[in-house]
Amino acid sequence: MKGVVLAGGLGTRLYPLTKVTNKHLLPVYKKPMIYYPIQTLVDAGIKDILIVTGGNSAGDFLKLLGNGKEFGLKHLNYTYQEGEGGIAEALSLAQHFAGSGKFVVILGDNIIEGSIKDEVKIFAKQEEGARILLKEVNNPQRFGVAEIKGDRIIRIIEKPKAPPSNLAVTGIYMYDSYAFEIIKTLKPSGRGELEITDVNNEYIRKGTLTFGTLKGWWTDAGTFDSLIRAGNLVYSGQKDIPQMFLSLEGRGLR
Ligand code: G1P
Repeated sequence: MKGVVLAGGLGTRLYPLTKVTNKHLLPVYKKPMIYYPIQTLVDAGIKDILIVTGGNSAGDFLKLLGNGKEFGLKHLNYTYQEGEGGIAEALSLAQHFAGSGKFVVILGDNIIEGSIKDEVKIFAKQEEGARILLKEVNNPQRFGVAEIKGDRIIRIIEKPKAPPSNLAVTGIYMYDSYAFEIIKTLKPSGRGELEITDVNNEYIRKGTLTFGTLKGWWTDAGTFDSLIRAGNLVYSGQKDIPQMFLSLEGRGLR
């Protein structure tokens, strides 16, 4: 299966950090943010990867990632999103790359503790449609949120004021090529973007959306709070915590 990392957008929620560079190049502990979603795909056995970038510093991705050698890859594909048309618009640029096959999409600011390998295996066996991954959160208002009835998702609501559950739709999506047909029919939302939630709701209407739940922690890193949370989560997961931090911790300074 192929993989797509969406790393465009203007990252306005992180101004001025993103005034001269792309959000996905900002550091999350020891690595640039985009390293984590690429590694998530590679760990799931996905080797054919497209990076969709845009906005500031698009050329720096090539300089940073090259052909993906650091991830054990021989080749990386790149494409460029003009402007900020939203996640679904960025995804439409992957049509040529994906062809008629199934693919996994991950938002360039989504970082997870665990693996999506088993979920990708399940989707590989799914005849048609899409599969999304949910995660329980305590601030669902910030995300796409799933409304569940029985064992099915009946609707996804983007950034609901009154969330129907605490199950956020993570930025990891598995699609068949029908996704591109859906995107062509979308209209911009209130925030002027083509929403990935509208793509998923269309799959729900067709009755072909399945879902799994993510084990381990999950975070995005697109706001000041989530960016520092992401760094802290990655840092806590390190086995070789630097001595300096350990001593700070010991003195109750952290
Ligand atoms: C986007 C999606 C949202 C999803 C989130 C995951 O939100 O629109 O449905 O829950 O990614 O990171 P955004 O980052 O555009 O606010």
